[in-house]
Amino acid sequence: MPTAFIVGASRGLGLAIAAELLEREWNVIGTVRGGARTGMHDLADSCPDRAEVETLDMNRPDQIAALRGRLAGRTLDLLFANAGVTTHDPLARIGDVDADEFTQVMITNAYSPMRVIEALHDLVPADGLIGAMSSGQGSIANNEIGTREVYRASKAALNMLMRSFAARPEQNGRALLLMAPGWIRTDLGGEHAPYTVADSAPILAGLLLSKRGVPGLQYLDRFGKDVPW
Ligand SMILES: NC(=O)c1ccc[n+]([C@@H]2O[C@H](COP(=O)([O-])OP(=O)(O)OC[C@H]3O[C@@H](n4cnc5c(N)ncnc54)[C@H](OP(=O)(O)O)[C@@H]3O)[C@@H](O)[C@H]2O)c1
Repeated sequence: MPTAFIVGASRGLGLAIAAELLEREWNVIGTVRGGARTGMHDLADSCPDRAEVETLDMNRPDQIAALRGRLAGRTLDLLFANAGVTTHDPLARIGDVDADEFTQVMITNAYSPMRVIEALHDLVPADGLIGAMSSGQGSIANNEIGTREVYRASKAALNMLMRSFAARPEQNGRALLLMAPGWIRTDLGGEHAPYTVADSAPILAGLLLSKRGVPGLQYLDRFGKDVPW
């Protein structure tokens, strides 16, 4: 039974993808942070043989290192860095965002997912997949309307870092994915988003599974279409 490792599975899209992969008979390790009970704990209780809860605040290098130690010897057929945040006021312009908040969003959305991938990629077999949750808003080419300035910048930075990772000779032939899932009703997406989590989970999980072992980096929307960089 293959194993998926989902970073940020306490709620929202990460939790829904974890549940969908369990439905498809995968083993799932989902990360949460803090000590509070989450939806991932409920999944693990309902499926104790195949669902595991791991603890990770991906902004804490000590926690990434400890996690790597705990996972030694495991195989992660799918490694998906899903977790992300936006600015407190998502529509704030760059001039209204202080350096601390800018740094926090950049670290969480660009630096930390890549640090997790750096730490765990050697646990992913050649026919596996390493993915990160980007956004259509990370597309520089498509940015003609602006808004969500810092969030867009953070996902564009994630995309660039993933392209640099993909360009390393040792990653040649590796299946890598940046996912643009569409605008979905979650705490981050807000109540006006057109898509629901329930409708999106099978589509997004299916996209992840379909790209296992497909060589090269792709930046794809929820329909599997290329997003312009
Ligand atoms: N919803 C959309 O419309 C949409 C569109 C495009 C892209 N995305 C991307 O999809 C991903 C998931 O978003 P969502 O809509 O599901 O948001 P969400 O409901 O707010 O969930 C965010 C998840 O990220 C986790 N997280 C945040 N910071 C973390 C950290 N430092 N370490 C570990 N986990 C952390 C959260 O954990 P806690 O519960 O502990 O806070 C939570 O599990 C994000 O990368 C987001 O940018 C979403």
